Amino acid sequence: MLKVLVTQRVPAPAIAWLRERVELDDNDSERPLPAGEFHLRARGKDALVTFLTDRIDAALLDAAPSVKVVANVAVGFDNIDLEAAQARKVIITNTPGVLTETTADLAFALLMAAARRLNEAERFVRSGKFEGWGMMMLLGSDIYGKALGLAGLGRIGQAVARRGRGFAMRVLYTDEHRASRPVEEDCGAEFVDKATLLRESDFLSLHVPLMPSTRHYIGAAELAQMKRDAYLINTARGPVVDEAALARALREGTIAGAGLDVFEHEPVVHPDLLACENAVMTPHIASASVATRTRMAMMAAENVVAFANGEEPPNRVV
Ligand code: GLV
Repeated sequence: MLKVLVTQRVPAPAIAWLRERVELDDNDSERPLPAGEFHLRARGKDALVTFLTDRIDAALLDAAPSVKVVANVAVGFDNIDLEAAQARKVIITNTPGVLTETTADLAFALLMAAARRLNEAERFVRSGKFEGWGMMMLLGSDIYGKALGLAGLGRIGQAVARRGRGFAMRVLYTDEHRASRPVEEDCGAEFVDKATLLRESDFLSLHVPLMPSTRHYIGAAELAQMKRDAYLINTARGPVVDEAALARALREGTIAGAGLDVFEHEPVVHPDLLACENAVMTPHIASASVATRTRMAMMAAENVVAFANGEEPPNRVV
């Protein structure tokens, strides 16, 4: 039987399914394994089911040379050194598709929350400050009919575009490669360059993977090109945004607000950002619905079991 380590608690159906098919060592905890323990428990395993909080690098793969498959429970895989994996002929899989709509829901929720100041309004009510309706109380921005800019028109970017269409938004996007005509038509999305996207978006939502070329894709220079009443939404990866520059822009009114689910140095959030009332922040929960997290865990388990059965894992990255 294949020996498998699952490094963090996953929804019960996935663990039960896996337990019937492989020899399981599961860390039944919601905290990631410290690196030392991770390396130790990976030793002697054939496959690992990992999360974005696990660092899969040469050191781990050399500490556990028996590992042949790493099934990452995430669509992103910037926590994995793909070159180190390839050099050691380790198969890497991810969980694309199943989290698209759930993630797009949260991106749109953050967009709406930032525009309508839901975080401030909620705190206002809870702290007993609501003493009567006020004409000028907590005024925000409209969403309907505004320009929605998407950096990246992959699966999640497209799903956010469709939500924007439901709000009669003008949808603009930029990407490394222009999308096909049918995709553009389906999303009602117009291809523009990055400068136009920055200049014309009322809401700029980030949907690029984290790669060397997208680190600090949004920094001080980009923020300065945005409208002063624009909002930045990030459900991609924290380091795509220069967090210190964003905090400065929010404080100085360079842009109106931000909705952030990811942070540059998770779980640490830049202290200046914490002080910004015009930032709505959630703790990297974009795919966190019961159904989607269950599907993601099942998908990773299926990749491992496919390998155990001598088949090609269906969601192979390398
Ligand atoms: C979550 O951030 C993922 O990449 O699935």
